[in-house]
Parts: sequence; C-alpha cells; structure tokens
Amino acid sequence: MPLPLSLEWCGDHLKLLDQRCLPQDIRYLHLRDWSDVEQAIVTMAVRGAPAIGVAASWGVVLAANAGENLERAIAALRQARPTAVNLGWALDRMQTALDRGGDQDANILESMASLIEADDRRLTQRLVDHGVKLLPAGCRALHHCHTGAVATAGVGTALGVIAEAHARGVLVQAWLDETRPRFQGSALSAWELGCLGVPCKVIVDGASGLLMRRGEVDVVLVGCDRVAANGDVANKIGTYNLALAARAHSIPFYVCAPGSSIDCTTPDGDSITIEERSSEEITAVQGLPVAAPGAIAWNPAFDITPEHLVTGLITEFGVLRAPYRHALKQLPFGRQD
Ligand code: MRU
Repeated sequence: MPLPLSLEWCGDHLKLLDQRCLPQDIRYLHLRDWSDVEQAIVTMAVRGAPAIGVAASWGVVLAANAGENLERAIAALRQARPTAVNLGWALDRMQTALDRGGDQDANILESMASLIEADDRRLTQRLVDHGVKLLPAGCRALHHCHTGAVATAGVGTALGVIAEAHARGVLVQAWLDETRPRFQGSALSAWELGCLGVPCKVIVDGASGLLMRRGEVDVVLVGCDRVAANGDVANKIGTYNLALAARAHSIPFYVCAPGSSIDCTTPDGDSITIEERSSEEITAVQGLPVAAPGAIAWNPAFDITPEHLVTGLITEFGVLRAPYRHALKQLPFGRQD
C-alpha cells in the first residue's frame, strides 16, 4: 500500500496528515491559519523533525497571505517545540526570504517554502542511498521512534534506510522499539513498514538489551532531532540507552542526520533544550489511567547520546565519522557559526 503524503500545500491552505490518528485512520487537517499550524506542531498532529520544519514554513506563508504580523508568527512557530533544530533551520530560511523582500511579495515566501519541502524530499533520498550501503547482507536492524516517510516530506531517514535495504534484498528483519510514552514505534513505524511489506517485530523499549545479547541485532539505526557541533545527538527518549547497549555488545550505532538537523551553533549536547511534556502522557494511555492514582511522572521527550557512542552520522553528503567536530564543520549545510 502506498504511504500517504505527510503534508501538501493546496494553494490557499496546508493539508496535513494527522499522525495522531494513525494507524487506525488516515485523516487530514486543513490548516488555513498559521496558528493552526503552530497548534498542529504543539499537539504532535505533525511530528518528526523534518516534517515539523516543512510544516512551519507553510505556516509562515499562511501568515503572509492573511496579511498578519510575520515576525510574531515566526517567533511563535519557533517556540512550538524546542528540541528539533529543523524548525529553527526552516524558519531561518523563511526569515532570510522575508528580509529579501518577502513582505512585499508573498510569492517569495511561497517559493522558499516549496524549496524547503523539495530539499527535504531530495536530501532524504540521498541520505537513504548512503545509509543502505552500510548494511551487511542478511541484516537485522533495530530502530527507535519513528523516522519514516510521514516524519518527513520525503522518504524518511533511518526507517527509509531500512525500507530501501529490504527492497534491495539486504535487510531481512527490522526490530522496532515501541517507543514509550507515545508509541511512535508500534503505531507509526510498524504501520509504515507493514504498508511497505518489510518484515518487522515490535519490542518494548526495555527488551533491546536482551535482543542484542542474543545476537539478534546487526545494526542500530535511529534518526535525530539535533546534532550539536561536537557530534552529540538529541533524539527521542531511550536513544541513549540503546546506544549504551549497542556499545556494550559491539553493535554499530548509526544516526541518520539530514543537514536540516545539524546545528553547529550549539556546542554540545548539554546545551540542547530537552522538551519536557506532560506527566499524563506516561500515567495514561489514550485517556485510560495506567499508573497508580496520584502518581506523578517525569517526561523528558528526548535525550542526548554523546558523540563517542555514535559509529557514524549518515547524511545526504555521505557517512561522517569521528572526529565529528571537524567533519561537521566541513559541511555546506546545517546551521554553521
Ligand atoms: O517527539 P517526536 O515524535 O517528534 O520525536 C521524533 C524523533 O525523535 C525522531 O526520531 C526524529 O525527529 C527524527 S524524524 C526523521
């Protein structure tokens, strides 16, 4: 089954796949106001670092078409989620277009948003092509969260590598962390791989150590929300644990990082703001309590994997190896100092 587009610009509004309804329903939101886009990002109707960057760009176009205060709209969209740098990266590009006269001519902003979306399609495909070459024949890959096509405007990142590797006969099995508390792995990744006919099994996040110890994992592939100048990686909570377990079992741990996720203006992982979400995301599932009455949870949405645990960063320009500070500095993309 072909995958639905994560988003589509319809000339006067943004048609956005509501990821909260997946996999049960393929439902679209029709967003006509920039603040609807902001809310879609905050409430995770759209999620995945590249997809939120592209959606925010179209939010700026909506604000321009409505004659609204663009500085205010850009500032509010920038705040919608703090960890993924793709949001700031895309809005920086929109701001540059605005500074070049976009406030006089809305077409300039629309062209920039189209370019940001097209870049994401092109770059994710190139990243996937580089990633596939790393995998050994008969590969069994473990994946965290959701990094597939609907988390981007293109073919996805880490899950895109997994799907392509299966299509080329290299990968035989994907293991998917369910990814508590919001189940991106069991709901979204398992759905995408199911649509594409890729054999996969979901595990609870805590099962990865046992799986590795039993020799069932050849490689770990994850996405990212921000890569700092020294190569530290922010990604969905649980990624760090996976990297530690992979190192303990001498399993390669690769991070798929499109240029839009690279932020050389942030020196290291400790400087990255980690989004903390509501306690209820942990204590209840779809409105039903799963914790003791009155239990309070701590809910950081992301963690930091230190660069020394990363075997390689898979980018659209190829696979970067340590020392990452040097390798990242050479790139003609991403946020540079
Ligand atoms: O909170 P989410 O679901 O937006 O977190 C998503 C992730 O952590 C992804 O792994 C990351 O954004 C990469 S998506 C290609």
